Amino acid sequence: MLKIAPSILAADFSRLGEQIKAAETAGADMIHLDIIDGHFAPNVTFGLAVSKMSKQTTSLPHDAHLMVTNPENYIDDFLKIGVEYITFHIEIGGEQKKLGENRWVYTVFIPDEKRIRTLIDRIKKGGAKAGLTLNPPTEFKTAEPFLDKIDLLLLMSVNPGFSGQAFIDNVYKKIESAAQFRAENKLNFEIMVDGGVGLKNAQKLHNSGADILVSGSSFYQSEDYSKFIRQLKS
Ligand code: DX5
Ligand code: ZN
Repeated sequence: MLKIAPSILAADFSRLGEQIKAAETAGADMIHLDIIDGHFAPNVTFGLAVSKMSKQTTSLPHDAHLMVTNPENYIDDFLKIGVEYITFHIEIGGEQKKLGENRWVYTVFIPDEKRIRTLIDRIKKGGAKAGLTLNPPTEFKTAEPFLDKIDLLLLMSVNPGFSGQAFIDNVYKKIESAAQFRAENKLNFEIMVDGGVGLKNAQKLHNSGADILVSGSSFYQSEDYSKFIRQLKS
């Protein structure tokens, strides 16, 4: 069954508590927290205070998507507030590629294996599910050495930074490769897709092998949240 994770980054922050409750009432399966440090990706979003408030507002599982250069500095605090999933980027320690004025994305060809394994272990030992994320320019095969250790593979379909960006369709091939790798190696990590997801691509993403869709602006801009989730799932 396809799961939907609204990203509260796209919510109306003047009534954030209400907007989180509304996602729960509408039938969301989890809450997606977009944590950006302004270094790994452009934009500074929110951190522990808002994440903790969200945890106190709904009993839905939370996934903290850490778009930060040093996940080491944040994992313990996110474990402490009880988020169920902690996801960090494979590109940490990689290279910054300029995309335009005040816009960039990190990419990596050879990930720092030791560091990534240590982070995965720390998250799992702390009692959360460990997620690994790939930016749009990063090839699926860079993640292969870690797939037997993780609980979640988050495939980005926008360059991290902002809600409401256009969907990048190279993600379909990555979802298919991930689903194939998972079946061939009898693994069971979940596949999540994040960025530019909406009614126009949900079906194809699910057919390609996605288990969880993050929806930010398409969810919070929809007229009827419950109807929108039903439509995404059908
Ligand atoms: C981008 C974030 C996404 C984004 C999704 O940095 O990781 O989760 O907020 O928002 P939409 O669905 O509007 O693309
Ligand atoms: Zn995200």
